[in-house]
Amino acid sequence: MPSGAFVGRVVLITGASSGIGRAAARAYAAQGAHLVLAARREELLREVVREVEGLGARALAVRCDITRPEDVERLMRETQASHGGLDILINNAGIGLFGPVEALAEEQLRQVFEVNFFALVRVTRAALPLLRRRPGAQIVNVSSVLGHRGLPLLGGYGAAKAAVNALTESLRAELAAENISVLLVSPGFTETEFREHRLNAEGWRQSAPPLKQMSADEVAAAMVKASRRQRRDTILTLPGRVMVLANRLAPGLFDRVARRMIGKMVKRQES
Ligand SMILES: NC(=O)c1ccc[n+]([C@@H]2O[C@H](COP(=O)([O-])OP(=O)(O)OC[C@H]3O[C@@H](n4cnc5c(N)ncnc54)[C@H](OP(=O)(O)O)[C@@H]3O)[C@@H](O)[C@H]2O)c1
Repeated sequence: MPSGAFVGRVVLITGASSGIGRAAARAYAAQGAHLVLAARREELLREVVREVEGLGARALAVRCDITRPEDVERLMRETQASHGGLDILINNAGIGLFGPVEALAEEQLRQVFEVNFFALVRVTRAALPLLRRRPGAQIVNVSSVLGHRGLPLLGGYGAAKAAVNALTESLRAELAAENISVLLVSPGFTETEFREHRLNAEGWRQSAPPLKQMSADEVAAAMVKASRRQRRDTILTLPGRVMVLANRLAPGLFDRVARRMIGKMVKRQES
């Protein structure tokens, strides 16, 4: 007999092929959920299907580039056909961008907003008819600590996540009357493939994250807990929470701390 907080609930995760999304698939499956797994790398999605089926979940893998409207429409059609509705949408897919604001190519900035913001809006709108079929449905938007407080060399990425934060607040109010809750989960630095896939301004590359990293499993466990408790805003890692609080209480002082982080983060600048 399956057990757990999400028995029989259908959870769709974008960016389920690696990192936090893949760990979230395992964490929700362990709580009895059925999964719809979306990403571009199909062979990795098939591995995740095997992992979660081993935990007793039913899982559907859908190859989907969330920046392509036709892929997103097919994702929702396949979800509807196999499950008849959707209980939880996890908007997790994302890419990073590194480099000083002055050096970021406009094309890179647009790409980071396209994946992290515009595609999230597209997926959310397309999922709403399916979410409305299930009482107490939920949307979980994966942001970042950097969406709450900007750091040097991460301004383009932080700006896209700050846009997600603002959108989340509006959506939460707009959907409250329909009993669809909208949650925000903001991880700190997490050990995943994220930095390998990240776009870099020409000549810039990050040497190492300036703070200790969490594991994807830790983020996924916190996400499941937030989902179970309907916690509206989850900022992860103690340093992440301290950073947001310190910025609120003493922004000038935190600006000085932020300036010092540059030295820890930069590997080289080619001339
Ligand atoms: N790692 C961190 O330090 C950190 C910190 C704070 C927040 N976050 C956020 O956490 C989320 C997950 O990142 P991660 O750390 O797990 O990185 P990751 O391992 O690189 O995972 C990113 C996922 O997004 C998917 N993705 C990227 N572009 C896509 C597209 N156009 N269409 C569909 N899927 C796409 C990738 O799948 P395919 O390549 O197979 O499409 C992959 O599954 C992101 O929103 C990220 O901004 C990460």
